[in-house]
Amino acid sequence: MRKPIIAGNWKMNLTPLEGETLVKALIEKVADAKCDVVVCVPFVDIAPVAAAVKGTNIHVGAQNLHFKKSGAYTGEVSADMLKAVGAEYVIIGHSERRQYFAETDETVNLKTLFALENGLIPIVCVGESLAQRDAGETDGLVSMQVKAALKGLSAQDAQKVIIAYEPIWAIGTGRTATNEQADETIGVIRGAVAEAFGQETAEKIRIQYGGSMNAKNCQGLMQMPQIDGGLIGGASLKAEDFSIIVAAASDTVA
Ligand code: 13P
Repeated sequence: MRKPIIAGNWKMNLTPLEGETLVKALIEKVADAKCDVVVCVPFVDIAPVAAAVKGTNIHVGAQNLHFKKSGAYTGEVSADMLKAVGAEYVIIGHSERRQYFAETDETVNLKTLFALENGLIPIVCVGESLAQRDAGETDGLVSMQVKAALKGLSAQDAQKVIIAYEPIWAIGTGRTATNEQADETIGVIRGAVAEAFGQETAEKIRIQYGGSMNAKNCQGLMQMPQIDGGLIGGASLKAEDFSIIVAAASDTVA
C-alpha cells in the first residue's frame, strides 16, 4: 500500500512572514493526517517555515535546485543550501520552469540525480499541453518524460522519487482533469516506470495528480486507485482548503 502524499506548491507567492502565518494555521488542521504533508515554498521562506513547523508532521520543500555542488552559478541555489535551511523535498521540472526557464528533460534528469545523491526527495513533474492531448500524444509524451527524468537511477533510488502528473491545461485554469483521465494517465506513467525499473518499483513509486485540485474535487481524485496524492497550487495558499485535501487523502488510508 502506497502512503499518499499531499504537497503544496506555493509558487511565487507569500513573503516569509505570510508563509509562517499560513503554516502556523495549518499545523493543527493536519496534525492527525495519515498521509505525508509537504509545503514547497519560495527559497527565502524555507528557513522561517521550517522553523515554524519543527516537531510537527509538516515537511518543507523547495521548488527548484541547481545540479552542481557549488561554484560560479549566479542566482542558483544548491542542494546543500536547501538542506541546511530545512528542506527535505524539491520540486523538479514543473511545467512553468520548462516553459519560462528553459528547463529540459536533460536538466530535469541532472537535477533528479543530484537531489537524490544529496539526500533530497525529488518531486518530478510531467504533463502534456492541450494541443498534445488533443493530438493523442499524451501517453507517449508522459512515458518519455518519466523515463528521461529517471534515467541512470537504480530501481532503489527510483522508488524514492515522487512523480507529479500535471496536465498543463489543468494548471491554474480551474479546469481539472476528470478522475478517470488523471487515473488513466497516471496508470500509463506507472507502466513506463515498470518498463524501465520493473514491476516492484512501479508498484512502490508514488504518483500525484496536480492541476486545479481543490477542496471540492479532491475526494473523487483521491479515491482513484492509481492516484497517490496531489501537488496543489492555488488551494495550498489557504490553510482550510489545503487541510480538506489532506483529509481526503487521509481518508483513503485504511
Ligand atoms: P493549481 O493547483 O493552481 O492549478 O496548480 C497546480 C500546480 O501547478 C502545482 O504544481
